[in-house]
Amino acid sequence: MPKPYTPNDAWSRKAAKEGFRARSVYKLMELDERFHLLKPGQTVLDLAAAPGSWLQYASKRIGPKGLAIGFDLKPIAPIADNVRTFEQDITQPEKIDSLLEAEHLPAIGLVLSDIAPSTSGIRDVDQWRSIELNQAVLAIAERWLTSGGFCVLKVFRGADFDGFLREVKAQWKDVRIATPRASRDRSKEVYLVMKKL
Ligand SMILES: C[S@@+](CC[C@H](N)C(=O)[O-])C[C@H]1O[C@@H](n2cnc3c(N)ncnc32)[C@H](O)[C@@H]1O
Repeated sequence: MPKPYTPNDAWSRKAAKEGFRARSVYKLMELDERFHLLKPGQTVLDLAAAPGSWLQYASKRIGPKGLAIGFDLKPIAPIADNVRTFEQDITQPEKIDSLLEAEHLPAIGLVLSDIAPSTSGIRDVDQWRSIELNQAVLAIAERWLTSGGFCVLKVFRGADFDGFLREVKAQWKDVRIATPRASRDRSKEVYLVMKKL
């Protein structure tokens, strides 16, 4: 029996206490501990970054020589000197390309995405939207991520999940499925962690 939704659960209280903007930071922390994703000096893209807890954590892990760039439909309040953010729909690849080209970035070593569509309440529709958004994320990662770099995606399990996973496995290596402890018990979300060929 899934637990009911609790907006002020232990993870949210911990995030508030530790100064993080969202409970989802603990999902990235666990993935980072398991897969060693973030490194000092790295350049990182976060596609769907608001309110910014992943960027807060990434900023600390990459340090002053690193750079984290976040995109979201919503504005993101300033985080640190090594973080830049853009209010931008990630399904507009030409806009993402021109913003990134203007930054003259070093090689991008990690692409993160915790993207979630605004929910319609119809489970299959929401799941399909999540897949569509992740296809946009993958297209950006294929264009911008350096070879051997990690990409992390959030996907919802459902009717289209197996097909999407096959698609991912055909184009990426070492594809792993992870469910961090902070993913709500009632949620169908999983994270795919993969490496660029
Ligand atoms: C779960 S939140 C991300 C939380 C973030 N990882 C953090 O730690 O603060 C999902 C985000 O996806 C964003 N999003 C949904 N569709 C998007 C799109 N097409 N382009 C950019 N961002 C999008 C939403 O605005 C929302 O802020």
